[in-house]
Amino acid sequence: MRIYKAKNYEDMSRKAANIISAQVIMKPDCVLGLATGSTPLGAYRNLVEWYEKGDLDFSEVVTVNLDEYKGLTRENPQSYYYFMNENLFSKVNIDKDRTFLPDGTEPDSNTACLKYNKILKGVGAPDLQLLGLGHNGHIGFNEPAEHFSTETHCITLSEQTIKANARFFENEEEVPRQAYTMGIKTIMSARMILLVVSGEAKADIVKTAFYGPITPQVPASILQLHPNVVLVADEAALSKW
Ligand code: F6R
Repeated sequence: MRIYKAKNYEDMSRKAANIISAQVIMKPDCVLGLATGSTPLGAYRNLVEWYEKGDLDFSEVVTVNLDEYKGLTRENPQSYYYFMNENLFSKVNIDKDRTFLPDGTEPDSNTACLKYNKILKGVGAPDLQLLGLGHNGHIGFNEPAEHFSTETHCITLSEQTIKANARFFENEEEVPRQAYTMGIKTIMSARMILLVVSGEAKADIVKTAFYGPITPQVPASILQLHPNVVLVADEAALSKW
């Protein structure tokens, strides 16, 4: 594992964006696994800026996102499709037909998951998978569980995740209780994992994930077994390291 210690959120974002842009430059038709949430926002802003400067070309890039809330349409401002479109897709020259997320509007979980698995198999393993880290150690929406998940599945969000994500909604009641998420096996199939972590509130969990036992109770702990993990975290997140 390589660790890049950033001074602050901006520095973390720039370092992460540099790694993503290196991937796009070295392999213009790469598959990028993408994440939503507040942590990657700064990295996306940098990528957009560098694209506008003419330094980056996304025309051949394929993207697969980690997850989507069950029940939300693409037009819903809280959906992850909307997030990706607002923060990246609509601002760069990516071909929208090459951007994939689970279909939140598919009410049948089995159908939604099979459909997304088929897409993931079709595009192949991500060259780079960007991940954020949940306060309970979740990656994607893979919540603490009895065993590690494999492929795309429907998950019931934990109380802690509902509370953490309520900040994006009018109130806690509005947070969907279920989501479709890429499974751990698929995440682990990525050639490179780029984990971004920021802030003191994540200091305990980032330490637990990498120094604690590998257990499905801390889903991110599985990353200890991945041969090519890059952790980009700011000083606050690494304060207990
Ligand atoms: C988002 C995702 C989640 C977030 C995690 C951290 O697509 O899959 O695992 O990465 O909840 O979220 P933030 O960055 O908002 O702290």
